[in-house]
Amino acid sequence: MNSFVKFLNSSIGRKYVMAITGLSLTLFLLVHMAGNLTLYFGADAFNEYAHLIESNPLLPLAEAGLLALFVVHILFAVFLTTKNKSSRTDKYRSDLGMGAKSFASTTMWITGPLLLVFLLIHLWDFRISKEFVDPSEYDLAAMVIARLKSPFGFVIYSLSMAVLGLHMWHAFQSAFQSLGLAHPRYRGLIQLTGRGIAVLLVVGFGGIPCYLFFAG
Ligand code: HEM
Repeated sequence: MNSFVKFLNSSIGRKYVMAITGLSLTLFLLVHMAGNLTLYFGADAFNEYAHLIESNPLLPLAEAGLLALFVVHILFAVFLTTKNKSSRTDKYRSDLGMGAKSFASTTMWITGPLLLVFLLIHLWDFRISKEFVDPSEYDLAAMVIARLKSPFGFVIYSLSMAVLGLHMWHAFQSAFQSLGLAHPRYRGLIQLTGRGIAVLLVVGFGGIPCYLFFAG
């Protein structure tokens, strides 16, 4: 136990935690995005999909796990960033942004907090506020459409998806690097996969506010 706590307190241990929680959240995002695509098939298809998820008895457990992943990922990001700032040797390097520096790697410190702001707005919009809706009037698709069709909702959601893309552009390869899995032979493939996922998330998530605002 003691050695596990020691490991978590070490720089490498913190990077491991960041990497594992980050990769798990990436998986959640891909599944969440795929589910959201049902909106293109109409409000009924989306509500049916949402009902399938909401009626699963294991949902509270999954939500608790997801919350834990977000909280741990964010807390460890804060630990790592503040530790880097106070460490003289690492002063000019971002530990979150390993490998060659790029715009995406050097802006992780700002894209992360911006995504946290988005997440709080987003959870209020579609997860928390639904608790106050009369169950007989509950229509998740109508809530999503109304929010994303409004100018404010459109701007928040489309800009946040661009920020998500920037964060993910670097995050995937950084996680593999942290886990010691970025063998030079596979580095190009890992980078390409990470960037592919970033583009997929931007197009998949970001297409929805654009579609609803301009065409829907
Ligand atoms: C256009 C983009 C997005 C749309 C339209 C969207 C839509 C939704 C909707 C409708 C829900 C409620 C699901 C339900 O309660 O049945 C939800 C939940 C959630 N979304 Fe999103 N989402 C988007 C992007 C994102 C992004 C980028 C993130 C993470 C950075 C995210 C994280 C979450 C989380 C954590 C929940 C709560 C899951 C739960 O507790 O069941 N979403 N989203």
